Amino acid sequence: MTEHKTVLKGLEGVYVTESGVSLIDTENGALYYAGYDLRELVEHSSFEEVMFLLIHKRLPLRQEFSEFRELIRRSMELEPIHIEAIHRYARIVDVLTLLVILISLKGTGRQGGDPRDVNSAVDIVAKMGSFLSTIVRIKEGGDYVPPRSDFSYAENLLNMMNGGNYEDEHVEILDDLLIIHADHGISASTFAALVAASTLSDMYSSVAAAILALKGPLHGGASEASYEQALNIGDPAKVPAWLEATLSQKKKVMGFGHRVYKIYDPRAVVLKEIIAKYLDRMDGKVRLVYEITKALEDYGQKYLAPRGIFPNLDLWTPILYRMIGLPSDTFTALFAVSRSAGWTAHILEYWRDNRLIRPLHLYVGEYPRKYIPMELRGDS
Ligand SMILES: CC(C)(COP(=O)(O)OP(=O)(O)OC[C@H]1O[C@@H](n2cnc3c(N)ncnc32)[C@H](O)[C@@H]1OP(=O)(O)O)[C@@H](O)C(=O)NCCC(=O)NCCS
Repeated sequence: MTEHKTVLKGLEGVYVTESGVSLIDTENGALYYAGYDLRELVEHSSFEEVMFLLIHKRLPLRQEFSEFRELIRRSMELEPIHIEAIHRYARIVDVLTLLVILISLKGTGRQGGDPRDVNSAVDIVAKMGSFLSTIVRIKEGGDYVPPRSDFSYAENLLNMMNGGNYEDEHVEILDDLLIIHADHGISASTFAALVAASTLSDMYSSVAAAILALKGPLHGGASEASYEQALNIGDPAKVPAWLEATLSQKKKVMGFGHRVYKIYDPRAVVLKEIIAKYLDRMDGKVRLVYEITKALEDYGQKYLAPRGIFPNLDLWTPILYRMIGLPSDTFTALFAVSRSAGWTAHILEYWRDNRLIRPLHLYVGEYPRKYIPMELRGDS
């Protein structure tokens, strides 16, 4: 008698690990980092504090936090080999691929498997930010700007990217964006990080695997795709017809839908509230994208909500990314910078009780088949 086996496509509904890093409350629409409500963290905390929280599962005390921030700032310094690599590749390789190259370079010769390796976790998040800012800076013809010890992580990112050319509110917006993207359970990229880490590959290589998984438009690439979608629609008045045509062709609307939320993504709710604070100062292309996004949200109520498909954070992020001057080809990379805090926290946690991740597949081909030598197979 053959045993009945079920394939759970996309691992939907499968618990693959235990974790205390984040909790997604899909009923009430809330996200918690180590038990703390995302909303509260966005309002009161900083990305550095959230990094500490995700790794240690508790808020830092004052002295240890100042030491932690110091470690982040020191780790943000780039070595000449990285700056050279950025000069060489920034104009010929896409930003995310270059991040993979740079973070993989840092992993050379390292070992994985140590759940106490907080220094590597901090080094990865710090370097990811410096890499991204320096890529943007060098692509735009500038030179490497070293991190400043009196700046927060978010302000250093902007300063290293723009050499002092940013506003105070941009620092606040970027810090909020970093917090909002820092973790989200076992997303596809976090799972990719865990799969690599479970082989006891080093943390840098495991993060490189995660970045590559983040790249696609169903995951991290959705913000850039959602921005392009808004620009292609071009006019809020065209949204209803565009939506009808897109859905009748069975195409996906970027910035809508989620594997775990069948309600409005709580991160998108927080993003909308941040955007609302800056509405009166929003003009030009960003304003147009906002108007189109609003129309998509409104008409999504009629066309998508009845099927349990609601806006996700990627519907709204392009507006804030553009407000702080991020080029659209860096949207996913900024997501990677922020999510590296979650990836590394998950890796450290997983290594406490590591087990190789090795699922099964159900073979559906023929077997056994008789091998026929080439000379006996005929010509056509
Ligand atoms: C994220 C996503 C992959 C999750 O979806 P999922 O749980 O795998 O669900 P599926 O892709 O299998 O979709 C289930 C049904 O809803 C529809 N659907 C899901 N998201 C949709 C979207 N954004 N636009 C239109 N239809 C959508 C599918 O077409 C499918 O319809 P069907 O049953 O008639 O075939 C999906 O919602 C999506 O592709 N969204 C757009 C990309 C995006 O914004 N990603 C960022 C996520 S934070």
